[in-house]
Amino acid sequence: MYSNKVLDHGTPAKPGQATVAVSIDGQTVRVAPGTSVMRAAVDAGVKIPKLCATDSLDAFGSCRLCVVEVEGRRGFPASCTTPCEPGMKVTTQSPKLADLRRGVMELYISDHPLDCLTCPANGNCELQDMAGVVGLREVRYGYDGDNHLQATKDASNPYFSFDPSKCIVCSRCVRACEEIQGTFALTVEGRGFGSKIAPGPTDFLNSECVSCGACVQACPTATLMEKSVADQGQPDHAVVTTCAYCGVGCSFRAEMKGAEVVRMVPHKDGKANHGHSCVKGRFAWGYATHPDRVKKPMIRAKITDPWREVTWEQAFAHAASEIRRIQQQHGRDSVGGITSSRCTNEETYLVQKLVRAAFGTNNVDTCARVCHSPTGYGLKQTLGESAGTQDFDSVDQTDCVIVMGANPTDGHPVFASRMKRRLRGSATQAGAGLIVIDPRRIDLVRTPHVEADFHLQLKPGANVAVLNALAHVVVTEGLAREDYVRARCELPEYEKWKAFISLPRNSPEALEADTGVPAAQIRGAARLFAEAPNGAIYYGLGVTEHSQGSTTVMAIANLAMVTGNIGRPGVGVNPLRGQNNVQGSCDMGSFPHELPGYRHVSDAATRALFEAAWGTRIEPEPGLRIPNMFDAAIDGSFKALYVQGEDIAQSDPDTQHVQKALESLECLIVQDIFLNETAKYAHVFLPGSSFLEKDGTFTNAERRISRVRKVMPPLAGMADWEATCGFAEALGYPMRYSHPSQVMDEIARLTPTFTGVSYDKLEKLGSIQWPCNDAAPEGTPYMHATQFVRGKGRFFLTEYVATPERTTRKFPLILTTGRILSQYNVGAQTRRTQNGVWHEADVLEIHPHDAEVRGIRDGEPVALQSRKGETTLRAVVTERMQPGVVYTTFHHPESGVNVVTTDNSDWATNCPEYKVTAVQVVAHARKSEWQRDYEQFSETQEGMVPKTAMRGEAPR
Ligand code: SF4
Ligand code: SF4
Ligand code: SF4
Ligand code: FES
Repeated sequence: MYSNKVLDHGTPAKPGQATVAVSIDGQTVRVAPGTSVMRAAVDAGVKIPKLCATDSLDAFGSCRLCVVEVEGRRGFPASCTTPCEPGMKVTTQSPKLADLRRGVMELYISDHPLDCLTCPANGNCELQDMAGVVGLREVRYGYDGDNHLQATKDASNPYFSFDPSKCIVCSRCVRACEEIQGTFALTVEGRGFGSKIAPGPTDFLNSECVSCGACVQACPTATLMEKSVADQGQPDHAVVTTCAYCGVGCSFRAEMKGAEVVRMVPHKDGKANHGHSCVKGRFAWGYATHPDRVKKPMIRAKITDPWREVTWEQAFAHAASEIRRIQQQHGRDSVGGITSSRCTNEETYLVQKLVRAAFGTNNVDTCARVCHSPTGYGLKQTLGESAGTQDFDSVDQTDCVIVMGANPTDGHPVFASRMKRRLRGSATQAGAGLIVIDPRRIDLVRTPHVEADFHLQLKPGANVAVLNALAHVVVTEGLAREDYVRARCELPEYEKWKAFISLPRNSPEALEADTGVPAAQIRGAARLFAEAPNGAIYYGLGVTEHSQGSTTVMAIANLAMVTGNIGRPGVGVNPLRGQNNVQGSCDMGSFPHELPGYRHVSDAATRALFEAAWGTRIEPEPGLRIPNMFDAAIDGSFKALYVQGEDIAQSDPDTQHVQKALESLECLIVQDIFLNETAKYAHVFLPGSSFLEKDGTFTNAERRISRVRKVMPPLAGMADWEATCGFAEALGYPMRYSHPSQVMDEIARLTPTFTGVSYDKLEKLGSIQWPCNDAAPEGTPYMHATQFVRGKGRFFLTEYVATPERTTRKFPLILTTGRILSQYNVGAQTRRTQNGVWHEADVLEIHPHDAEVRGIRDGEPVALQSRKGETTLRAVVTERMQPGVVYTTFHHPESGVNVVTTDNSDWATNCPEYKVTAVQVVAHARKSEWQRDYEQFSETQEGMVPKTAMRGEAPR
């Protein structure tokens, strides 16, 4: 039988050299100071029985199953809570110990259901194992005494159940929720025999629980158990792969039964997540086999026609002939492509290669255009590399954290748990300082055992003003790290910046009216950050999705450099990436101006390298960005688009403009797992493959390249990379690879930062952070260590320019947007899982004052209106918002939030200004005209897909 048990050392590893020698059953081992006897025994190859201990949690010492004998000591200490001391002689097996352990087990088993054979955990239950290990054969007390066997099961959580009749009150679940997840949702109620685990006053679903599953993983019995395991039975094999949701890039063991996933278990050796996960990665994988999957290629002449099922070859041939026809009629540059941040590096690389080499144009872009393109631009300009500087582990060594325009507990939950642990501190280390810069009171501002030192609750759009004010305080109060700056940065530029930032107009007091933040708070925050030995800045789309997004990124880099906070663990500039492979899609040359490795298409030497390898000519001029493609489509000069794994009709701003652009195309080729909103405007549909159906790699926010491994065959018969190759071949451009590893070999040959990357090395190391080359053969955990990638760091002047989007009498409120934990991006995946129980529709958060003056009550439908459009959603009245600012998410197509967002964008990169839209909110609304049209259009389009294409059957 397959065993999903991984070696458990019982207690966490201790840092430091193995200097303490102890004897375990006569065998000498050396361990780091503070290591438990239990862990030392595992190092010596001896497994001491245990129940309440596990190596992901601090030792607790409650079950007493792990008792040992220590020479010269009285009694029988618990090995999990006893630290090794030099010369200690430990005996782990003796008749007396065996007797004691059997006695402990006897008590547990006398109050435990005797249903092992029918229990879903049968064969993978630590209680069952331990009963066997200690040789328990009978229970002297019988089973008729007081017990908990009638306790009621709580099945309220959609993914796991809680059966207290099986609970041994080891508190591993409580400690996992506290120590690993940091949510503190569980408690041990009562004392002694009456003690029980409780998720608050009602049930799991209505508790503080965020469904991360850490307690389920920690539970040694079947008390907390995945419903999928109860339904499907124990898995028979496992494959290690990478989560396909957010940019944390958690590593998982996909535990399988045949070709079906039974559960996803966070991988202990995963360097991004260290065995933890969130609700999406652990539980929300059911979309991959959802009946909505389209499993057959389809074509049609017009979007008013029903779809016609065809073979892959016919679909490729049709798409290729349309591309060539359009190029002949309208010119080579009348076509383009959009790569996906959800697909693998190899797939993204192939799509941009197809566009540049087979289409013969640089009209390729990626969804990073609408999220982190300012990060790429701003960090390249200032530091020399378009990526974050640190690994996630770095946060353990930070002393002060700035979180700006990011909501990690919802958007990057596993990293947030890690950060919260550092913010809480420990018995030996005080918690780090925390400065939150956000218009909204995100959870991190105040969460159990964490409270921000400063919440700079700025007005949306004032990021640059706040950062300038912070830097002004650093410079004018003598807090700048001049020694660091003089050694590592361009001095003339620094002097210019210093003079600029010192101007009275950049003081917190002068900018108070713009920022909305009291000057004293900014002064306090600046001092806290600048005086911390290690200060780290983490930011998200609240920084980039603004008309001054690139300026804000440069201001962040300026602040990090002037405080000496780049180039070592514990510091850095850390963009929290949204989608699983947005870093990778940028690295792979998805932008119209850059070839893989961020090398400009105007660079003749780079072009020559790729021209030789690809056997084609590459244009020296950058191609169209996504917004330019839309404009050109409406103008009539852009006629065909190949979109892989993106839903631009839902995700991009100013929906009606996007719809008009898509309607204007003569040939839209969409490759996706579902008939998404964009596909409803398509002429060719190529069925996509989920992350479970293919091999490849994703690159997370730490620049960490991790393997994606196929656990089941592609439902439509082809992985996305194979389909792109087939399309290229039909265009007459050969793309012959038999495995994605060959694509990675090509990337490594052509990209200096990837020279040392190969699938073999990934097997060996688990994951690799680029740059990985001769200078860093095992990768680079943190960048700019001795000097910046560009040589000297460069300060840029960051003049604050208010967004053109202003409130007016007609639109007096500012709308800002974001995400929620249980849903992901356009929701195509999470809406097709049970995550809907936490967020079945987008809602509009509004401050009580703004609600009251408009006569809006909590839960009522309200109209959200801007100069671009109108939509209706339900209001949530909350003090999380500041007066004058409203907030919503964009996970549901029918709420159509992007109908109201505008075409304003970042001056440098065209990243849309999602975060600032002047709006009005009106009570008592019914569905908007756009929503009614959308519903009708959507229903018609869905009806045009043959049922056989969904079932994957041959057409009748
Ligand atoms: S639910 Fe599981 S982990 Fe929690 S106390 Fe009971 S047996 Fe231990
Ligand atoms: S699922 Fe996560 S948040 Fe919920 S109780 Fe368990 S550990 Fe806590
Ligand atoms: S934190 Fe992100 S990568 Fe990790 S499990 Fe959750 S969604 Fe997946
Ligand atoms: S495992 Fe040591 S006391 Fe429970």
